[in-house]
Amino acid sequence: MSTWMETTVESVRHWHSGLLSLRINSPHFSFKAGQFARIGLPGNDGEPLARAYSMVSAPGTETLEFVIAVVPDGDLSPRLAKLQAGDRILLNSHPSGFFTLDHVPEGETLWLLATGTGIGPYLSILKGEQVWQNFRRIRLVHGVRSSADLCYRDWLQALQQKKPQQFYYQPVLSREHHQHQPTMLHGRIPALVDSGELEHACKAVFNSQAQIMLCGNPAMIQDARTALKAKGLEKHLRRKPGNITMEQYWA
Ligand SMILES: Cc1cc2nc3c(=O)[nH]c(=O)nc-3n(C[C@H](O)[C@H](O)[C@H](O)COP(=O)(O)OP(=O)(O)OC[C@H]3O[C@@H](n4cnc5c(N)ncnc54)[C@H](O)[C@@H]3O)c2cc1C
Ligand SMILES: NC(=O)c1ccc[n+]([C@@H]2O[C@H](COP(=O)([O-])OP(=O)(O)OC[C@H]3O[C@@H](n4cnc5c(N)ncnc54)[C@H](OP(=O)(O)O)[C@@H]3O)[C@@H](O)[C@H]2O)c1
Repeated sequence: MSTWMETTVESVRHWHSGLLSLRINSPHFSFKAGQFARIGLPGNDGEPLARAYSMVSAPGTETLEFVIAVVPDGDLSPRLAKLQAGDRILLNSHPSGFFTLDHVPEGETLWLLATGTGIGPYLSILKGEQVWQNFRRIRLVHGVRSSADLCYRDWLQALQQKKPQQFYYQPVLSREHHQHQPTMLHGRIPALVDSGELEHACKAVFNSQAQIMLCGNPAMIQDARTALKAKGLEKHLRRKPGNITMEQYWA
């Protein structure tokens, strides 16, 4: 049975006014990389006003970290953006979700495709051992509006330097051009799948030996599925094995 626990904010990092990383104390919270927690604040009716947020942190630590976009007219996210270290926050005791490696078949290449804060679960997965054992090649593609949204970029670039044979990080900007940074792609992820540019840039292919995880904006997930379907790749189901596993952040 799940219950609400009151805990405290450990620290907040503002990447910009609409994007933050929130770290909260969580001494007894056990989860799998890729899962999400429900966190919240007291609502007007006295009940918790809570939403789902994927863990960025690795399992087994006493701090939970989340990356959160501020939805301007949203009920909760603008309030979360005002929190400071030491403030109280509610955490549901029960982690949820099936967007974990237990639900992704092993393969040659793992493609981790995200828009915006959809990068969160991948960061947690990349901090574990399992992903490096299950896949020879791992490609993380982060589609955002502008370079300011490329949270955790330094950490991902350092990881790429540490594991150059196995890991490649590909940022994609949709609303900003970067002539001086040739490794940056421009546009939207599904179009880059269609055109073959993503495969070319990442030196890997979308074939039957690939597993693809999709996370974030539901329109991206739908369009990416269409683009991948054209390459013969379908959703993975236990009763019908395939290549695509998804987590969408809203309907
Ligand atoms: C499984 C799961 C995991 C999630 N993990 C994260 C996470 O790690 N980080 C995160 O920022 N959000 C995440 N979300 C979204 C989050 O739960 C909230 O929906 C979001 O913070 C908006 O809440 P709100 O109360 O501010 O807005 P609401 O008042 O609830 O308004 C919701 C509306 O805002 C829009 N919206 C919701 N999320 C986003 C978003 N990320 N970007 C753009 N528009 C959005 C949608 O149109 C949605 O209908 C996740 C959602 C799910 C279902
Ligand atoms: N990012 C910011 O600068 C910013 C600043 C303040 C507040 N916010 C708010 O924060 C919330 C989240 O914004 P966000 O930018 O993180 O998330 P987002 O709106 O989901 O955009 C993230 C990326 O997804 C792309 N995308 C959208 N639809 C797609 C599709 N069908 N296929 C492929 N890619 C698609 C966007 O491309 P396009 O650019 O082509 O749409 C963008 O590159 C929003 O409510 C926003 O208003 C954002």
